[in-house]
Amino acid sequence: NWNNWLRTNFSAITLQDVFPQLAAMRQVKSASEMVILGRSIDLSADAHIEAMKMIRPGLYEYEVAARMVYVHQRGGAEREGYAPIVGTGFNSTLLHYNGVRAQIKDGDLVLMDVACEFSGYSADITRTVPANGKFTPRQREIYEIVLAASDAAIAAIKPGVMSGGNAPGSLLKIATDVINSRGKDKDGNPLGKYFIHGLGHPIGLNVHDPGVPGRALESGMVITIEPGIYIPDENIGVRIEDDILVT
Ligand code: GLY
Ligand code: MN
Ligand code: MN
Repeated sequence: NWNNWLRTNFSAITLQDVFPQLAAMRQVKSASEMVILGRSIDLSADAHIEAMKMIRPGLYEYEVAARMVYVHQRGGAEREGYAPIVGTGFNSTLLHYNGVRAQIKDGDLVLMDVACEFSGYSADITRTVPANGKFTPRQREIYEIVLAASDAAIAAIKPGVMSGGNAPGSLLKIATDVINSRGKDKDGNPLGKYFIHGLGHPIGLNVHDPGVPGRALESGMVITIEPGIYIPDENIGVRIEDDILVT
């Protein structure tokens, strides 16, 4: 409407969409943006630690989510970066589960994808923990594979590297290769088919911040690394998501 109004009333002007330029600028953070985003990330990490301390069978997902929101608000966050995801048992396998109504059972995994927005900048953190404090051997096996995928991708981060795509050396390829080379499902198949989303994305003013498609990593970018394995048949969903400043 604004563009139409301009065109109608000011026929001599030319309009140009500057979204690509803005997206390119948003991808590389200034020093002050890094300070604010760092605060948002630290506060979100504080909430995860509080959640880990409280989790036990019998609690409801919303009780864990509420404690995390409380920590964010107490620390000065103005809102959540996105609707909190706290999924127990089977719910850990649902990608954008926002139900937060279920009761946590003994033996469940609890997946928490929860982070705040601080001074306009959103963090994005996921942790997956055993409700009773101890993984089953199978839960631990899957967790260790996801962690190894995350560690391998993070170790490869440096300017010039591609985050997405399947070219050799891309972070996605590195993480997927780890997941496919370790462990099997009940039918003996590799686990890559249970990694059902991208490896990560830029964060900043939005939790999914815009970027220039196909642009290699540069110093000053902040991205998530978030491999996951979701096996509904086994009630096992594991994601580990960290926020990384490229240097
Ligand atoms: N919390 C949304 C995401 O991880 O992309
Ligand atoms: Mn997330
Ligand atoms: Mn994310």
